[in-house]
Amino acid sequence: MLIDQHTAAKDIQRLLSDLGWIEDEVVDKVTIPGEGNMNVVLRVHTDHRSFILKQSRSYVNKYPTLEAPIDRIETEYHFYQALDPGLKKVMPKVLAYNEDMHLMMMTDLGDCSDLSTLYNKREISADQIEELVTTLVKIHESAVPNNYPGNLALRKLNHQHIFQLPFIEDNGFDLDDIQNGLEELSLPFKKNTELKSVVEHLGERYLGTGSVLLHGDYYPGSWMQSNGDIYVIDPEFSFAGPAEFDLGVMAAHLIMITSKAENLNAVKRLYAHDHDSKLIDQFAGVEILRRIIGLAQLPLSRSLKEKTRLLKIAEGLVNL
Ligand SMILES: Nc1ncnc2c1ncn2[C@@H]1O[C@H](COP(=O)(O)OP(=O)(O)OP(=O)(O)O)[C@@H](O)[C@H]1O
Ligand SMILES: [Mg+2]
Repeated sequence: MLIDQHTAAKDIQRLLSDLGWIEDEVVDKVTIPGEGNMNVVLRVHTDHRSFILKQSRSYVNKYPTLEAPIDRIETEYHFYQALDPGLKKVMPKVLAYNEDMHLMMMTDLGDCSDLSTLYNKREISADQIEELVTTLVKIHESAVPNNYPGNLALRKLNHQHIFQLPFIEDNGFDLDDIQNGLEELSLPFKKNTELKSVVEHLGERYLGTGSVLLHGDYYPGSWMQSNGDIYVIDPEFSFAGPAEFDLGVMAAHLIMITSKAENLNAVKRLYAHDHDSKLIDQFAGVEILRRIIGLAQLPLSRSLKEKTRLLKIAEGLVNL
């Protein structure tokens, strides 16, 4: 059964009773807890409590013509199971999971918003950076179970959006629709064969194998804030890979928030384990490039001059 925000409360109640996920509980209403594109995410209010249901589809929920692997929710489930117990308080807990229905029930973090607001604030505190790196260290320290999903189909989709499409001139996406003049700004990067060959190589690293449990999408859209605490959600892009990918992505977003490349050093200093510093820089560079000249845009309102500066920083990081 496919559910969404239009499914009647009594039908959700029957489904959850049939699954044995609720007993003497009455579902009062179903709401949407926050913005999301990929999946159906619902907040279920009962006469006892509220909780979250997340269901994946064989397509991107907001853009049904875009296919996406339906078993991505399985990755998310396995991620939460694999976590170091020390992390349980900064992430939602899985309450129940049904593989056939691609459905997961999680604890409700309550009324919180994601940290995409940081792009407009243009700053992030040293304490927040430390908290986010500490959480990432604990994720990376979690043992990868033998049966951990490779998540390759979803990674291939992401690979296209990070390492390929942004660097193709005729990718069918007119950047001037985002901001007049952005298309022209993107051209030197799309024509730079040296840059593109490094990016291609980095893409191969992303698709390859590794030994560290990655979140896979460690950026402000996955960071939730509630009463001053930061929670991390949405690990559907997780896989066992190079730690430098999560670190590079995180640093890239700190650089886009603050326009300061020094954030890379802050992240590396706080990260307690061995790492390939150059690889972090390179993944960070690609992430900045793709977020400015690619299809997966951010709520990043910056002048063309500011974007030019960010793109230059990014190019330098990839090509070091
Ligand atoms: N456990 C939770 N508690 C409270 N709110 C939540 C919880 N999980 C998700 N949300 C809210 O629902 C939104 C969408 O969730 P999530 O990011 O997991 O969905 P998604 O479809 O994978 O999104 P995206 O397309 O951004 O990847 C979140 O931004 C958040 O506002
Ligand atoms: Mg998601």
